[in-house]
This record gives sequence, structure tokens and C-alpha cells, in this order.
Amino acid sequence: MIVPMSMIDKLTGRMTLAEKLGQLTMTTSSYAVTGPVIAGDSTDSIRNGTLGNLLNLVGAKHVHEMQRIAVEESRLRIPLLIGFDVIHGHRTIFPVPLAEASTFDPKIWELTARESARETAADGIAMTFAPMVDVSRDLRWGRTVEGPGEDPWLAAEIARAKVRGFQGADLASPESVAATAKHFCAYGPVTGGREYASVDISERTLREVHLPAFAAAVRAGTAAIMPAFTDLAGIPLTAHKALLRDYLRGELGFDGVIVSDYNAIRELIQHGVASNVVEAAVLALKAGVDIDMMAGAYRDGLPEALERGLVTMDEVDECVLRVLRLKERLGLFDDPYRRGSRVEAVEVVTARRRVARDVGGKSLVLVKNSNDALPFRADIRRIAVIGPLADAWREMRGPWAAAGYEEPNVSVLAGLRAALPEAQVVHAEGVAISSADTAGIAAAADLLDDGVEVVVLCLGEAAEMSGEASSRAFPELPGEQRALADAVLERAATNDIPVVATLFCGRPLIVPWLAEKADALVVAWFPGTEAGHAIADVLTGRLSPSGRTPITWPRALGQTPLFYGQRNSGRPENPQDRFTSKYLDSANSPLFPFGFGLTYGRFAYTNLRVSAASATVEDTIEVAVDLTNTGAREAEETIFMFVRDRVASVARPLLELKGVTKIALKPGETGTARLQLAAADLRFLGLDLKPVFEPGEVEILVGPHADPARLTTARVMLQG
Ligand code: GLC
Repeated sequence: MIVPMSMIDKLTGRMTLAEKLGQLTMTTSSYAVTGPVIAGDSTDSIRNGTLGNLLNLVGAKHVHEMQRIAVEESRLRIPLLIGFDVIHGHRTIFPVPLAEASTFDPKIWELTARESARETAADGIAMTFAPMVDVSRDLRWGRTVEGPGEDPWLAAEIARAKVRGFQGADLASPESVAATAKHFCAYGPVTGGREYASVDISERTLREVHLPAFAAAVRAGTAAIMPAFTDLAGIPLTAHKALLRDYLRGELGFDGVIVSDYNAIRELIQHGVASNVVEAAVLALKAGVDIDMMAGAYRDGLPEALERGLVTMDEVDECVLRVLRLKERLGLFDDPYRRGSRVEAVEVVTARRRVARDVGGKSLVLVKNSNDALPFRADIRRIAVIGPLADAWREMRGPWAAAGYEEPNVSVLAGLRAALPEAQVVHAEGVAISSADTAGIAAAADLLDDGVEVVVLCLGEAAEMSGEASSRAFPELPGEQRALADAVLERAATNDIPVVATLFCGRPLIVPWLAEKADALVVAWFPGTEAGHAIADVLTGRLSPSGRTPITWPRALGQTPLFYGQRNSGRPENPQDRFTSKYLDSANSPLFPFGFGLTYGRFAYTNLRVSAASATVEDTIEVAVDLTNTGAREAEETIFMFVRDRVASVARPLLELKGVTKIALKPGETGTARLQLAAADLRFLGLDLKPVFEPGEVEILVGPHADPARLTTARVMLQG
């Protein structure tokens, strides 16, 4: 049967080489700077067809003007693909991704992506460079903030939900945008936690930890994928034929667009695998990279590569077809102005801010609450809010706030004053976030001498201390914040005033001393536009905290990388035996384990049971556990289901997360939490790195977080 040539095929057949390479090129407008500022293009490039894609252009008016030039003034009238880094919100900024991961709620992840897509599309943009799904187990790495935390199962769940949220049911909808799962792959384990540094991990770790999220994104239908800047064992991902062509396109069947990271193709020269732009362009094209972001390498290098027979026109056309097909799927040929043609109603934006507030509150992780310092008493009348993050509304949106930089955010101080109009809320900054000036500490401590009933100590990082190009070798409180904290904690102890420390950060910080001395400690990450209201909701008890940390908090930097899914080793830690796996100067245990977080309730777990004592690979195991809220307040508990395979052909991790569920209970109430475990999910990569289902006993462990001492265990016998 002769398949009629599609419009796309016909169009490609009419294109000059310059126009083809234009469709494989994306350069930046000047709206935002998200990488080294390289001379961009002009509108002439759009007019003459040598530029087919843009990034960092925001605002329907500007976008429509560029589209008009493309579809009315260029020869072939091909619409532009315009992308932007909408990582956790566009103008309404939601909590940073690491904070959203703390909710362990796929409905939230999808909802905020859906709302972000609507707001982005309303600005005329058709593509986001998100979700970022790089697993990170090294708190020195700044981009930990942008991702899903340390766990591959969680990363895959987030990838799936975010792709669904961004792309919706119809990619051509004026409220949908193309998702770009990034950064493929294994960017997180950069050497020394240092940004952009080389990565060298085992094939097993690559496949067990760093690929599952991308496989999930592809299964969810992600329109695009962005390779990482880094090399993996000496092969830069931008030129990694085995992973881009054989794994992504071959094994996973990904037929979407691969867009390089910013200037990454030209940086193959820096990597040392290309001596000039021609060789760089050939490597990227052969690996299957379709769009060259910001390097101009395809335009500069491919004409000579074609002349010298280093690449074929068919290889170029294959990429052009994928780009044009994405534009067609986005509905850009039908109506290039569909996104941004309607201004969002005020009530839509207002409702979105309510979502930001609700998600902000649910992303907070209460990691200490001694003597029930929280929530505040209803009749509280005098609060001191101290610290450099107390009135720092600009910091609340975190490091990838894209178009949100123009929108006012709610600070902690403003949120508390709004929530407690009857109370006196006094404030002192004490110190700046990262200066050496300690002159303000005394005055801050003196606030505690005047009838204050509780201190909210707002400490942490500036937004730009995490995110891209923000690795830290000393991931502690910057500047003189510890001196401020010590002075305030000392005065509070003298005056018997509880101290609630609130930590704003894009990564776990090394703060064992703060965890010890503060009466309560809230990990707020960066909660976004509605930060102050979200925090006030939790501190006042309007909302019971339910967040759980998606990444382990070490006691000491020297423990890094520290994550719950370690293997046992042949000499597991035994405090009584020197010759076992431990440190001379630190416990092995974390400050806070993966999944840790308190609520305003108290939950007792009893009666764990499974639906069968044995299972074959086709079976699904029903898991149930009873919980009772023995606390005095209603609260929502997050329940984790891990598995452990103590004896297998390959040493398996001590715990592997396989499911999460939640249950809300009133004081004294008992309920049953239920989870399902498909026995097929107990397959693992055997000695040959191929999936294997091995007969034998598997433990199913259920509890509030990844501390084995807090888990109850059931056993199932797997049958071949
Ligand atoms: C940046 C980031 C990438 C982002 C791109 C465009 O350098 O690595 O995540 O999407 O450039 O801004």
C-alpha cells in the first residue's frame, strides 16, 4: 500500500539545506539568561528560515510577533517551536521540585504541572524543559533542588505524573505544552558533587537507579528528552549513541525529539571528543540529537560534514521530520497563535495561587517537634520572627523561577502577620544570608526579652545557592547564621521560650547542632509564591504537616553519598566490632532518613498482613496494615512499602521502595492502609543485567520512613 506523503514529508522535500538546519536550531531571546550568554540570532534568521526554534521568549505578544514573522514572512511559513524552563511554575511559582517530591502525592505532581502548563501556554509558549528527573544522592550538587530526590521509584512516579500534567490529554490543546524529560542521564552522581563534572558509575547503577525515571517518562509519552551536559565514563551524553539511539530510541521506542542542552554540542570540543564544530555536529547528529540548543553547531558544522560525506542528508531529514512532527502534534501548523490567544481569567489565577498555598503547606517537612512546640497555641499574642529568610520574599521561589521573578511572593513575616492579626509579630533579620557582619545579632536576641512567647528562626540558603552551577563544598548554613542561631537559642533557653527553626534550602544541609537545640525544626525547602501563607498554615495548626523528606539528611558531609538503598556489604556495621563498615568519628545512621517527617498526630502500626504467603510473577500481592492515631490532633500519615531480598544472585539493596499510600485519621481513630505489590515488580537485573524473577523469600516492610527499626515485616515466597 502506498502511504500518501504527509504534509511534513512534502514540506521536508521542499526545504533547502539552510532551512533544514534552521529547523534543527534553537537559540535564545534575551528574556532570561539560563546559560553562557552567546550571541543569539535576529528576526532575520526567522524570516529567512535559518532559525526554527526559540527559547526564553515570554509573553503572548512577543511570541505572536515572532510566530507572525515565521508564518507570514518566511518562504515555507513553518511555525516556531518556543520553549522555556517552567520547572515548578511559570508565573505562579509552586514549591521547588524537591519540595513537591516531599508530598509523595502523584495527584499534586500532576496538578501543579497542569496548572503550570496552562499558565505557560497562556503566555504563548509550547514547550517546557521539564520535568527534571535526575536522581541525586549527593547534597553538594546544586541541582538536587530541581529533581525528585534519591529514589528511582519516586523519580519514575514523578516523571509519569509531570509528563501527564504538562501534556494533558491532547498535546494540541491551547492549554498543553510539550514536556522535556531531562537530563538524560545519570547527571546526579557528578564527581565530588561538583557541577558538570565527569560521571563514572556502574552499568548496574545506571540501569537500576538513573534510567527508570526516563523509561517512565517515555511510557507516559514525553514529547522530548534533553541529554545531560556530562559525560558518562568518558562518553558525553550529547554524543552517546548507545544510550540515545540504542537504549532510548531502540529499547524504549522513544520517537520524540531530543533537544541538546544549552551549547552542549559545541562543548563536545571541551569534552575532548571533537576537535572542531564539524566533528562535534557529526557526533551529535549520529547520536540522534535533533535540536541544537544555542551552539549553532548544526548550522556551522553540518554543511561541511555533508560535503565530506561524514553524514547523509537522510540523517538530517530524519531529525527534521521529528521536529516538524512535534510542531504538528502541538497544533502549531493548524494555528500557531492558539497558545496565548486568550488572557486567563482572574479567578483562574487566584485559584492557582490557592493551589500553590496548599501544595506549599503539604511540602513542608516537620523533622522535630519536641514538647509539642507546634502548632502555636490559639491564644498566642507575641511572636519574634528572626533571621535572614524571615522577610526574604524573593528567596522563597527558589532558583528556577523563570517568569515568576516578576511576581510578588509572600514572606514568612507577611504570612504570620496575616494569619495572626491579633498577635504582635516582631522581626529582626539578625544577619544577612551570607555576609560576615554580626552587628545585628545582639538586637535580634534582645527581642526575646520582651514578652515573646515563641521564636520563629528563619535560616537557610539564598535561592541562587542551589540549582544549576551551584554546587557547595560546605553545605551548611552560610555566613554568620549559626552565630545568630546560637545567640537566639541561648537567650531563648534563658527566658524559657520555644524556638521553631524554619530551614529554607535546595538540598539537605549539615545542621545536626540545630536539630539538637531547636525545639521544633521545619524543612521548608523553597515553598514558592505562597510561602508565607503555607508556613503560617502549618505553624498555626490550620494544616497538619504531612511532608516527608525525599532525600536522606546526613549528620556529616563525610557520610555523602548516604542513601537508604545501600547494599549490606560483607561486614555490615557492628558497633562492637571495629572491623565492620563504619566510621571512627560518626554514626552511620543519618540525621533524618529518607521518608522522615512528623505530623501533628501519633500513628501506631499494627497487624501487617499480605494476601498470600507465596506468589508467582503474574500475581499481585495485597498488603494491608492498621494504623491508629494515638495523638491529640487529626493528621495524615504517609505509609511506605519497601521490599528486601536477602539472598539473590546479586546482592540487593537493604530496602527498595515499591509503594506509598496515605491515610488521614482523627485522634483515637483506627484505619487500614492498603497497598498493592505486583510480583513482577520484584524482578531485578540479574548477573547479566537482564530482568530476572528469582524464586525465594522476599520481605515486605511497611512503616513511616526508611529506618529499618520503624518497619514491620511480612514475608512472601516467590515461586518460579
Ligand atoms: C540550562 C540547563 C537546562 C535548561 C537549559 C535551557 O543550562 O542545564 O536544564 O533547560 O539550559 O535553559
